[in-house]
Amino acid sequence: MNKFLKDVLQGLQSSPKYLDSKYFYDKKGDELFQKIMASDEYYLTNAEMEIFSKQSGKIADKVLTEAKQIDVVEFGPGDAVKSIHLLKELMQKHSISNYFPIDISENIIKVLSKHLPVQIPHLRLKGFAGEYFDMLSLVNEISSNQKLVLFLGANIGNFKFNEMPQFCKHLRSLLSAGDMVLIGFDLKKDPAKILAAYNDKAGYTKEFNLNLLKRINKELNANFKINNFQHYATYDPIPGACRSYLISIKQQSVKIEEAEINFEKNEPVFMEISQKYSVKEIDEILLQCGFEVMSHFFDSDKYFTDVLLKC
Ligand SMILES: C[S@@+](CC[C@H](N)C(=O)[O-])C[C@H]1O[C@@H](n2cnc3c(N)ncnc32)[C@H](O)[C@@H]1O
Repeated sequence: MNKFLKDVLQGLQSSPKYLDSKYFYDKKGDELFQKIMASDEYYLTNAEMEIFSKQSGKIADKVLTEAKQIDVVEFGPGDAVKSIHLLKELMQKHSISNYFPIDISENIIKVLSKHLPVQIPHLRLKGFAGEYFDMLSLVNEISSNQKLVLFLGANIGNFKFNEMPQFCKHLRSLLSAGDMVLIGFDLKKDPAKILAAYNDKAGYTKEFNLNLLKRINKELNANFKINNFQHYATYDPIPGACRSYLISIKQQSVKIEEAEINFEKNEPVFMEISQKYSVKEIDEILLQCGFEVMSHFFDSDKYFTDVLLKC
């Protein structure tokens, strides 16, 4: 059974039901995510973009206090619109040996491999389409250079609060002493501002969530009626957890390949978490995971931080 089918059935046969958000990103999902990022409510992109457009020189200088020449590995680069600023700074300083983007979306890797070397001449790019850690192990096989791993866009928020340290420890175990990591975290702030970012007026987030049902229909021979599901987002300010759900608006059953999945009226399917952190929580957790915090880079509103870590 293919992995996508196995994960979808496992999620929808569980109680409560869930789907894994890493499957949002097919070609249509990539396009919708670009629209979400460009929406007025999605402050995360502007905040992190401000950090990269204004402070990439500072970030590069800090990185180069620890290494003269590095491989840059990027987890989930999307269109690399932020990291391009840092890549350009490091290229100008003749400090990048290789750039290895890793993304589960083959489409993303194809697009980046075509466009990035045009925007940054002489950049040696080799893309890897697949899961973060599987692909990082392949990178380790082909290069033993000192590394800077980028994990931007608050992707780390897609792990639950208690799963995030596990992810960071796994990452640390695949790196060597002297390697560095730059992680983007969305910070706790006005709950209304956070909730609005996951409930945009134009409805792109809703479409993005429903697109996963369309993808399952297309790729797993399923018959979801998309209009029978509604998008619902919540934010709980104490744990800092923003959660998205699809709600079945009626009792219904859906076929996926040979399986039949029953939904009650108003039954939720958990789709995604976007976890928010305080600076104190970030520093404490990362220290426990074996990283030394070198610097925080904040936007002017302090909505977001990119934290530079050393192994
Ligand atoms: C939210 S986008 C962020 C894009 C970019 N980092 C930014 O800040 O604009 C998440 C990206 O991570 C990729 N992704 C999600 N889960 C992944 C996984 N488990 N392994 C590899 N890539 C993944 C997606 O395909 C997508 O390109």
